[in-house]
This record gives sequence, C-alpha cells and structure tokens, in this order.
Amino acid sequence: MAPHSDQPAQEADAAMDSETQRKPISTIVIFIAMHTEALPLVNRFKLQEEHDSLFPKGVPWVRYHGIYKDLHINIVQPGKDPVLGVDSVGTVCASLVTYATIQGLKPDLIINAGTAGGFKAKGAAIGDVFLASEVAFHDRRIPIPLFDLYGVGLRQAFSASNVLKDLNLKIGKLSTGDSLDMSPHDEASITANDATLKDMEGAAVAYVAELLKVPAIFLKAVTDIVDGDKPTAEEFVQNLTTVTAALDDSVAKVIDFISGKCLSEL
Ligand code: ADE
Repeated sequence: MAPHSDQPAQEADAAMDSETQRKPISTIVIFIAMHTEALPLVNRFKLQEEHDSLFPKGVPWVRYHGIYKDLHINIVQPGKDPVLGVDSVGTVCASLVTYATIQGLKPDLIINAGTAGGFKAKGAAIGDVFLASEVAFHDRRIPIPLFDLYGVGLRQAFSASNVLKDLNLKIGKLSTGDSLDMSPHDEASITANDATLKDMEGAAVAYVAELLKVPAIFLKAVTDIVDGDKPTAEEFVQNLTTVTAALDDSVAKVIDFISGKCLSEL
C-alpha cells in the first residue's frame, strides 16, 4: 500500500454534497462488537433495547435506542453467537449488522467504537483512545494486480479534525483482520498498512458505510500492546474493563461534541 499521512483525508468528505455536510446531525449509529464495551454507554444514555422489525426475525443482533439532547442515538451489536454464547466479533457479523442498520435507519453518521491492539513502536499505550485516520484489511492477501489492492481495502475515515482537536485524541491508522493473534503474514501486511492499531471490525464497517454513502468514524481504545511481551489474549482480558471505561468516556464526549452540529463542523 502506498504510504499515507496520519491526517484524516479530506477528499472523501469533499465528495459528499454540501447539503448533506450542512444538515444538522440527527441520527447516529454506534456499532460496538462486544457487550462489555457497549453496556456502560447504554446505561449512561439510558437507552432502551428495541424489539422492532429493523433486523430479521431470529437473528441475535441487538439495537439500543434513545434520545439524547437533539440526537437519536442507536447502539447496535452483533449479539451473542447462537451456539457458543460469545459476542459475535469479527468482520462478517460487523458488515451484516452495519448493512441492516443503515438500510433501516439511514443514519447521518456511524461511529465504530471498540477496543484494539496497539503498537508501542507507533506511539500506542494501554488505555489510549485513538481516532483512526484510515482503515484497511491485513488478512486478505490476493497477489494478483488490482485484486491485491481490493484485498487491502484501504478506506479513509470521515475527517473529524475538530473532534480530534477538541477531545485531544490520538490519531493513527487502523488495520483489521479476523484474528486476535498476529501471524507473520498479518504482521507484514499490518506494517505495509503503516497501522498503529489492529482490530477485528473497522475495515468491514468502513466498506459497508462507503458502499451506502454514510460517513464513518472509528474510535478505538488500546487494550493490549501487539509488539509488547505479554500474551495478547491475557493482556486483552486483563485490561478490557478499565480500557472500556476510557473508551466510553471518549464516545460520550464525541456525542456531546456532535450535538447541535452538522458534518462539516466535525
Ligand atoms: N481488539 C483488542 N485487541 C486486539 C488485537 N490485538 N487484535 C485484534 N483485535 C483486538
């Protein structure tokens, strides 16, 4: 992948028509893969679980909804795997839920909030909350011209430079794959993606959001140091609760910042 700067790109946003950019933001969808990450926000904003027909009957997908200030806030989750009872993390469920939610709600903005692994060599530390400038995949290797770029699936996040400044967040590139661990092949692709962060949903959400022309931003809090010496799964589990608190704090501040604004003011 060609090198890119860490600044969120302006080109994708420039393509959005100016009427959309100037319309007050009203409906927000926050896609969160894990229930532990979502629950504090559901409680903070006093959201109610919706049992409506937004999703097909029988799927485990969950939507919480409520009004906060001038905003319709929706938190959507892929829910529990029907057989194993664990959160349905990963790209397949993320893209399905994002698709169904956009079709049903036509939101003004998507926020993908979640935890991520961070690279200390790129400035990440446990508990840091990042806004991703761009997202790409690291486990879709197709060494045929153009299919290689399709596999990487690089996409720019919506440029939210005022959010970045106002909340004093860190910025970095996000690389997505369907594994918590990192194989040598993944590592090479993540390095090529110049990523500071590694997650399991971001690029899938970005794909669907771009397809359906909804701006998306990515807030990721670091639970584990990928280039550190602790085993990833242990470090992730150990830090999940405290880091989730930092993530939720940032999401709440972003929502407060968004209230009363239009996309061009983010
Ligand atoms: N989420 C939290 N830590 C992660 C990691 N190391 N890789 C992928 N997703 C993560």
